[in-house]
Amino acid sequence: MYKIFITRKIPQIGIDLLKKQKNCQVKVSPHERVLKRNELLKAVKGCDAILSQLTDKIDQEVLQAAGQQLKIVANYAVGYDNFDLKSFKQLKIKASNTPGVLTQAVAEHTFALILAITKRIVEADKFTRAGKYKGWAPELLLGPQLEEKILGIVGLGRIGFSVAQKAVVGMGMKVVYTDLKPNKKFEKNYKGKFLRLTELLKIADVISLHVPLLPTTRHMISSKQLKLMKDSSYLINTSRGAVIDEKALWIALKNRQIAGAALDVFECEPKIACSKKQEQMIKKFDNLILTPHTASATFEARDAMAELAAKNIIAVLNNKKAPSLIKI
Ligand code: GLV
Ligand code: GLV
Repeated sequence: MYKIFITRKIPQIGIDLLKKQKNCQVKVSPHERVLKRNELLKAVKGCDAILSQLTDKIDQEVLQAAGQQLKIVANYAVGYDNFDLKSFKQLKIKASNTPGVLTQAVAEHTFALILAITKRIVEADKFTRAGKYKGWAPELLLGPQLEEKILGIVGLGRIGFSVAQKAVVGMGMKVVYTDLKPNKKFEKNYKGKFLRLTELLKIADVISLHVPLLPTTRHMISSKQLKLMKDSSYLINTSRGAVIDEKALWIALKNRQIAGAALDVFECEPKIACSKKQEQMIKKFDNLILTPHTASATFEARDAMAELAAKNIIAVLNNKKAPSLIKI
């Protein structure tokens, strides 16, 4: 009998898929929260597979706490910066993520943020609820039109590609992008132009981040990069918080050095800013929109992520080819 531990309740479809396996015993954490470190270390003991959340740090200590029988940790996320892959390699444990199935959800949420920040939706809602609407006015809550504006995509993976596609096809925007290498198919189909990050920052009206968090992308957007942006430009982040040096961003927003930012992820998550003082300050910013890491939160994506994570576990436990193992 294989033991599987799920570190937090996920959509039932994934749990059921695992429970249907004749050779599996499934345990789901009873807590409606992130497990504390000591709880996690204890709960994984004796497991053959762990289904983890992006909020669980899976390092050597956790892998060893599980024991030598551990075969796979399946992350319920596409990003896997919570995995210490060196330890996985050393201990010969497989790792998987959930690519592909949340692309559309995250791209849609990214667009929701682009529209919300440029159309000042949150500000307008607050204004209206507060009874400040006293009649139509020619210059009330103006913002930029997106058509013909330039969207700068940083990281043209599946999600970046999908955001770019929506921008070009749906909104009539122009797209520039930066990545490790150019994408000819994208350039041909969407007239996207490949630029270096510094050049992209100078010309884009909306900049959207879609890179994984790696040592090379940590604080990729800091004060130097923010200074290159136009004062009419917006920054959108649905990737990982630490891709932005947030302290530098708060200063840029405070000084109106850029027009605004919309963030779904935070450097010191779940805190929205790394210090209390910063938090109090940014809560007052009207040029900032925040969502609580919900970019992939569609019914469809979360179900599909649960299924895919379960399928990875089932395949590995049965010595079959798993659908989305992480290359280690
Ligand atoms: C969410 O942030 C994910 O990586 O799936
Ligand atoms: C994630 O699915 C990406 O490649 O952008």
